[in-house]
Amino acid sequence: MSVTSHRAAALSGTVRAPGDKSISHRALILGAMAEGTTTVSGLLEGADILATAVAVQDFGARAVRKANGDWSITGCGDTGFTSPAGHVDCGNAGTGVRLIMGAAAGYDLSVTFTGDASLSARPMGRVLDPLSEMGVTYDAQEGGRLPATLTSNGNLSPLDYTPPHASAQVKSAILLAGLNTNGITTVNEPTLSRDHTENMLKAFGADVTVKSQGDGAKVSVKGPVTLKAAHVNVPGDPSSAAFPIVAALTTPGSDIIVENVMMNPTRIGLFETLTEMGGYLRSDNFRTSGGEIIADIHVKHSKLHGVTVPENRAPSMIDEYPILAIAAAHANGTTIMRGIGEMRVKESDRISATTALLTANGVETSEYEDGFAVKGGTVAGGGTVITHHDHRIAMSALILGLNATQPVSIDDGEMIATSFPTFFELMNGLGANIKEARTEGAQTDTPAA
Ligand code: S3P
Repeated sequence: MSVTSHRAAALSGTVRAPGDKSISHRALILGAMAEGTTTVSGLLEGADILATAVAVQDFGARAVRKANGDWSITGCGDTGFTSPAGHVDCGNAGTGVRLIMGAAAGYDLSVTFTGDASLSARPMGRVLDPLSEMGVTYDAQEGGRLPATLTSNGNLSPLDYTPPHASAQVKSAILLAGLNTNGITTVNEPTLSRDHTENMLKAFGADVTVKSQGDGAKVSVKGPVTLKAAHVNVPGDPSSAAFPIVAALTTPGSDIIVENVMMNPTRIGLFETLTEMGGYLRSDNFRTSGGEIIADIHVKHSKLHGVTVPENRAPSMIDEYPILAIAAAHANGTTIMRGIGEMRVKESDRISATTALLTANGVETSEYEDGFAVKGGTVAGGGTVITHHDHRIAMSALILGLNATQPVSIDDGEMIATSFPTFFELMNGLGANIKEARTEGAQTDTPAA
């Protein structure tokens, strides 16, 4: 399904951010490990999360959507996960597969993980290698890529691990495996990454300690422990809220409110950066829900200027650089984003996908091994963007089209449902003009070899 975004008039209205993807994955996985029935309100019903719901059932848990929209997960508790009958297909979800690998590692089982083309190209050794130090064995494609078979006798040793860079997925996988060891498992994070796993583990009864260590933290969990079912209220996803927020900042006359946005300090680097660029973002109505701070964000069209994003901010906005690049394309001056080499191993190589997206639409960029720079100005548009099956590249391109001289098209918009199934109705409800496109004669950028 190719999609085109046309120049929009002012955006206005109040919308609610969809449920947070990271917290939704964790609620299903911890619920599946726990004794008893976990209930989840506000679960993101995106394709990535639905793949995780099916995956946890493959191991013996039960995940059911109730008539009122809540989900209930009956966990495996002391019985533990058991070997799935067939392979476990995690779809497009890096968080899903990596966290489930960690959770499964602590039980006596064997499992083969698969995923779509994008997930199969992503490195899994970063999780499988530390898990093998704890006692699992695995057989995978080059670089630990999928399909990968993990085998465990359920008798793991605790681990003290320092990952080469901050990654919440790696940290979470090791902590989840640590639940079923005899002793303390520790992850030494060089910089703080999102802390949802440690927060949720505490709510499920695990003994977790977090101590500051330089710019990062020493996060430990004590095993063995059987998690106890809990209720999880999923707050709105700041990574999804980013799209209407940047749309309003860059579309003249816009004035919108995005409600229910999680304001966890490990997730709001984009909001800090947009504010530094001169953006009008006012967070209001702060409250706590399910242990997370949430707020409503009022956004108005603003004159933006380029900035250099501090490299140590990257973990708190690692998924937001493509949409920041769209704000940068409309800003006065150059925005420099470096220290973000990790972007190359996300759903696509997001450094080259983002610069290609902008170049195809007349925006000047420079690409470095560890980042890129964007020179702002008037956006010509008129290009068709190759999305590489990456939802955040697709949505960023469509936001660019709202304030470009010519419409901006994408080759495929289907995968947007992985994280933001209501994107089209929410954006068009605010006044955007994003429609399924006719592709004949469209100009395209060159797909990566
Ligand atoms: C996530 C962590 C991040 C992020 C991903 C979600 C999570 O990945 O990019 O979209 O939920 O733990 P890394 O931990 O690999 O940086």
